[in-house]
Amino acid sequence: MITLRNIVKEYDGKQDSGRAVDGLNLEINKGEFVALLGPSGCGKTTTLMMLAGLLKPTSGEILFNGKLVNHVEPKDRNIGMVFQSYALYPHLSVRDNIAFPLRERKIPKQEAYERAKETSKILQIDHLLDRKPSQLSGGQQQRVAMARALSKNPEILLLDEPMSNLDARLKLDVRDEIRKIQRNLGVTTIIVTHDQEEALAISDRVAILNGGQIQQYAPPHELFNHPVNLFVASFLGNPPMNLVQGELREMNGNQVVVTEGFEYLLPADRRLDKAHMGKSVKFGIRPHDIAICSPTDHQRIKMKVDLVEHLGSGKLVKVIDPLGKLDTMIRLLTGNEAEIESGDEVYIKFKENKFHLFDMNDNGRNLLQYK
Ligand SMILES: Nc1ncnc2c1ncn2[C@@H]1O[C@H](COP(=O)(O)OP(=O)(O)OP(=O)(O)O)[C@@H](O)[C@H]1O
Ligand SMILES: [Mg+2]
Repeated sequence: MITLRNIVKEYDGKQDSGRAVDGLNLEINKGEFVALLGPSGCGKTTTLMMLAGLLKPTSGEILFNGKLVNHVEPKDRNIGMVFQSYALYPHLSVRDNIAFPLRERKIPKQEAYERAKETSKILQIDHLLDRKPSQLSGGQQQRVAMARALSKNPEILLLDEPMSNLDARLKLDVRDEIRKIQRNLGVTTIIVTHDQEEALAISDRVAILNGGQIQQYAPPHELFNHPVNLFVASFLGNPPMNLVQGELREMNGNQVVVTEGFEYLLPADRRLDKAHMGKSVKFGIRPHDIAICSPTDHQRIKMKVDLVEHLGSGKLVKVIDPLGKLDTMIRLLTGNEAEIESGDEVYIKFKENKFHLFDMNDNGRNLLQYK
């Protein structure tokens, strides 16, 4: 198990411009596949480098299996690492590249080659052992880098944007492969990425970082369906969650979100503490949780279709308030069978209990705790 306790990292001379990592707490179980996900500059690489021992935390503790490793040298941490640029040694063959970490550890050449061969079989590159990196495709080079990281049989595998140089199709293949290898070997893996689809697809748990702090650490479906705050909600999802500025009010015994364009009655089982009434909130709902409905449906909202985009698997419909009071456009997803064109007047409704309310006076905290 890996434990990060209250980790702070200030780069020298950077104190005034903030902390790269600012009080990070994280636990990763043995054999788990965890992604660090967040916008550029949020502290992902810094965190990975501290795990590898290439950077020292300014304060806080890093523990492997309960043992403090803050001062353990990188070479003694039993970690395999793949950087964004694979950084293969161009003058060495694939075989020597993979065997390199073993030779560094003074393992005899013959044995190192044996082990390089075994690892290369797992990654299906054993037919390429005599080639130089320049004679390989991008995906093959990536696998050589993985093989090199795995050849010394590490307890922990650290991957920093390992797939960012690959084309879309190859990326899918390689990510399946990484997941398969990881499962087979049971190696604890931490991957850094800013590709949310990738993180959600292959991880057991994802830590969403912003400004050097963890916003939420949970399995993918939980992050997506139960975001703890506005940052997580708006960071995840493509097309993104719709967010409409509103105010919570008590009206005729009902609790209502009042926006410029519509009023939405909270269902009885979603009533909030009275203390929240009067608060400024963002009303959030994902595009696939909005349906086009009939003119007689309960809680319908009249809208005008501004644009229809064909996604292949369905249609992305952008609707606007026909009266022009609501200044945000709303996106929704429909099936291909929906006959809908720009200019149409439509009624939309929000699917039951799929909406979120973010408290704008409390850093966008989600007021609804669905379970
Ligand atoms: N060597 C350094 N010296 C000073 N500041 C640094 C150094 N390396 C990174 N930083 C700063 O620390 C913060 C976190 O950087 P980090 O590289 O961890 O971000 P990241 O999440 O990996 O971003 P990206 O997605 O762009 O790779 C940034 O504000 C960055 O400018
Ligand atoms: Mg980085």
